[in-house]
Amino acid sequence: MLRRRGSTEALAGDESLSDTVPAGPVPALDLDTVRRTYPGGVTALDGVSLRVPAGRMVAVLGRSGSGKSTLLQCAAGLDRPTSGTVRIGGTGLAGLGEAALTRLRRDRVGFVFQSLNLVPSLSVLENAALPLLLAGREPGGRARAALAAVGLADRAEDRPARLSGGQRQRVAVARALVTEPDVVFADEPTGALDPVTAAEVLALLRHAADDGRTVVMVTHDPVAAAWADEAVFLHAGRVAAHEAAPRAEAVRALLHELGRGSREGVDEWPHLSPDPLPYGPGALARRGRAAAPSHERSPR
Ligand SMILES: Nc1ncnc2c1ncn2[C@@H]1O[C@H](COP(=O)(O)OP(=O)(O)O)[C@@H](O)[C@H]1O
Ligand SMILES: [Mg+2]
Repeated sequence: MLRRRGSTEALAGDESLSDTVPAGPVPALDLDTVRRTYPGGVTALDGVSLRVPAGRMVAVLGRSGSGKSTLLQCAAGLDRPTSGTVRIGGTGLAGLGEAALTRLRRDRVGFVFQSLNLVPSLSVLENAALPLLLAGREPGGRARAALAAVGLADRAEDRPARLSGGQRQRVAVARALVTEPDVVFADEPTGALDPVTAAEVLALLRHAADDGRTVVMVTHDPVAAAWADEAVFLHAGRVAAHEAAPRAEAVRALLHELGRGSREGVDEWPHLSPDPLPYGPGALARRGRAAAPSHERSPR
């Protein structure tokens, strides 16, 4: 496995964390040697360990089929690992029954699905309020505040079908944040967006992390990864590399490095974009619209 810049957050699956857990605060998200084998024999995750503190944004990269979505679903309690442990704020998910797991997911986890999963028959406001409504909580002003935070206060009564792709993506982010969860997962939240809209969505996730939430985002895009505090690279269900304070150039280089080891080569990475990058973290910050991660504010 490639180790870069001395990061210690992600460990290869064959390195057990059990006797190396450092003293200190409980990580917001803690995966220990997580395996997931699907019926039929596909091993989607082959012993992934990952520890993410509160207030940190992690980008998960890897070729199609490398296990990214499975990792997110296991980490979020939407799927159960075949073995290994997942803890959210110190609570082990394996020990929870379905009802308790549903409660934990509802109260402490936000998820931005790759397919968004907005409900077409509900208004934008109702979609954003959905996790509160399902929890039997009074949406009050919170859903409106979440919509305002993503810049969609004036579209509250519209149906999702009347919004642009980027606006729908922002509704999905508002819904993921409306319960003020500890951990937010996002599966390729910018995959279908133009560069400027992508930067707006990334700024929202960055802001959530700066607010103290933990953000785990799957992406194919080195520029999107540069918004994160750390990039974790999956290959065949294992953590193949990680990069602290990732810059787009370093992420791109690592993707190429990892791609060389595969039969398919670097053509696997359709989204590699050329420099200069108009929508990197610096772009919005320069326009005073969002805080970029500190490692992108001043070149190292
Ligand atoms: N429900 C499923 N049943 C069987 N195999 C699956 C299922 N979901 C994913 N897989 C397989 O697991 C591997 C990892 O998939 P996935 O986590 O979706 O990867 P990624 O998100 O990186 O593209 C792939 O080989 C995929 O075909
Ligand atoms: Mg996927």
